[in-house]
Amino acid sequence: MLRTHNCGELNIAHTGKTVTLSGWVQRSRDLGGMTFIDLRDRYGITQLVFNMETNAPLCEDARKLGREFVISVTGTVAERSNKNPKLTTGEIEIIVEKLEILNSSKIPPFTIEENTDGGDELRMKYRYLDLRRSNVRDNLMLRHRMAIETRNYMNNIGFIEVETPVLIKSTPEGARDFVVPSRMNEGQFYALPQSPQTFKQLLMVAGFDKYFQIVKCFRDEDLRADRQPEFTQIDCEMSFVTQDDILETFEGLTRHLFNNVKGVEIESLPRMTFADAMKYYGNDKPDIRFGMTIKEITEVAKGHDFKVFDDAELIAGINAENCAAYTRKQLDALTDFVKRPQIGAGGLIYVRYNEDGTLKSSVDKFYSEDELKKWAAIFEAKPGDLLLILAGNASKTRKALSELRLEMGNQLGLRNPDVFAPLWVVDFPLLEWDEETQRYYAMHHPFTSPKPEDIALLDTDPGKVRANAYDLVINGVEIGGGSIRIYNKDLQKKMFTILGFSDEDAQAQFGFLMNAFEYGAPPHGGIAFGFDRMCSLFGGSDSIRDFIAFPKNNSGRDVMIDSPAPVKQEQLDELKLKLNL
Ligand code: AMO
Repeated sequence: MLRTHNCGELNIAHTGKTVTLSGWVQRSRDLGGMTFIDLRDRYGITQLVFNMETNAPLCEDARKLGREFVISVTGTVAERSNKNPKLTTGEIEIIVEKLEILNSSKIPPFTIEENTDGGDELRMKYRYLDLRRSNVRDNLMLRHRMAIETRNYMNNIGFIEVETPVLIKSTPEGARDFVVPSRMNEGQFYALPQSPQTFKQLLMVAGFDKYFQIVKCFRDEDLRADRQPEFTQIDCEMSFVTQDDILETFEGLTRHLFNNVKGVEIESLPRMTFADAMKYYGNDKPDIRFGMTIKEITEVAKGHDFKVFDDAELIAGINAENCAAYTRKQLDALTDFVKRPQIGAGGLIYVRYNEDGTLKSSVDKFYSEDELKKWAAIFEAKPGDLLLILAGNASKTRKALSELRLEMGNQLGLRNPDVFAPLWVVDFPLLEWDEETQRYYAMHHPFTSPKPEDIALLDTDPGKVRANAYDLVINGVEIGGGSIRIYNKDLQKKMFTILGFSDEDAQAQFGFLMNAFEYGAPPHGGIAFGFDRMCSLFGGSDSIRDFIAFPKNNSGRDVMIDSPAPVKQEQLDELKLKLNL
């Protein structure tokens, strides 16, 4: 063994022991006749001491060690005079008697410490060095614990993990597929799964009853901080269940993870309908760590010759409590915020409810103080509060208010990453109308079942049909989503028709599933959690990249291995592919 202990385990109880440690030189300091080296491995940091007086040649050797050299040392554990309470090993140091250099290192391109000087791109290029940093390593340890706890919990409640294939078939729904050409089947392609959705349903038909899998999924979509082209799901499916059974089962998993990984007790896991989420938060993933819900004043505010309001489908706003003293500059900044193209509001109306009880608005020309009082009552405002109001097309206004609410939540420190407020959003619409292509799309996916009481609407008003679909939302992030599935061939066929598939197309794409439904498919449903998102939420970060060992950048590139990359002409020839660039 090149070590008797690791760099994180020695303490005062080991004083006097002879030990061998191996690791990386984090930092070295020469102080007069002594050289101190911080030796690092996965487990921690231990201070090494070399003494010029007692062993000059060894000390000379130590002084030649560069950062990130890999060394092995043997020495005696001694109590430190200058203790470091921040390190678990901070009470001791090793008086080194023997030093072996196992490998040298070039000077790393950035400092390998918690606060590094390396930019994003550089750290990704040298990700193996970035991964040596304790905070990045801790993120992956958190991920590991989450995976282990998930497997333990699911196993204990009777779920079995089954692997599903990675080379599958391209389907036109959802995001874009990544495709893989087949050499043995000329001109044909596999697709990488966007999720194991149809396979897990087939496992239910096969009688597996309770399935889960921690599984890679692939989606060729535009990337953001919470999206990667390949990401991981905790994918689950159960038979003979209702929506309530699923919500309860996965409330259990959610509580278990919070409890066992974070030491956090989840007090409640409320359920909110999609309709209420949109009405009160402007968003189907509401951050309920704070109130500031959207209030509507369309009825009372119309008819006062203020054209913007008179032309609006919706006039609504939020009450920013205790913000009446916001300066003109702050209000202008908020106006600029809502007018940004991503948000697209025409402008921002405000009402100050002053401490002295007077009301002052940016539309005083049109509204008397008595009128403003009526608004204030709807907003449940009190002296000292500030009303922020937007008007226009209903869905755009809600969306903009949702952004404004989150921005105010940030400004007022109401979005504490150490507070966790999960909820289920339920009763999603089954379908979404797309103006551009003039057709319905499945809001979740085409296998989601309509609520039985809404099935009749499929023929008359499909847009009104609600689905047995649900999302788990935590702190404004969609952590998971699922649904009760269709398990009847005719209903599934009808769904494809509504989605604009011809019978032939539906059969060609999804015949395997519809055929399976003819052989005794049980009622079933499930859910998938975004595992990377869950880890980043637990770790208090907005970026899932920090919790993936080797992530892609925002252009979908792995800058370390330099991928994607061209392939050799012979490979293309073998695949009978011709590039048309
Ligand atoms: P859905 O598409 O909602 O459902 O995905 C489930 C969860 O996966 C996470 N997620 C992502 N995470 C990182 N990067 C991405 N590109 C990405 N896309 C999605 C989200 C999301 O809530 N088969 C269904 C589940 C089911 O019906 O059981 C599905 O995949 O956290």
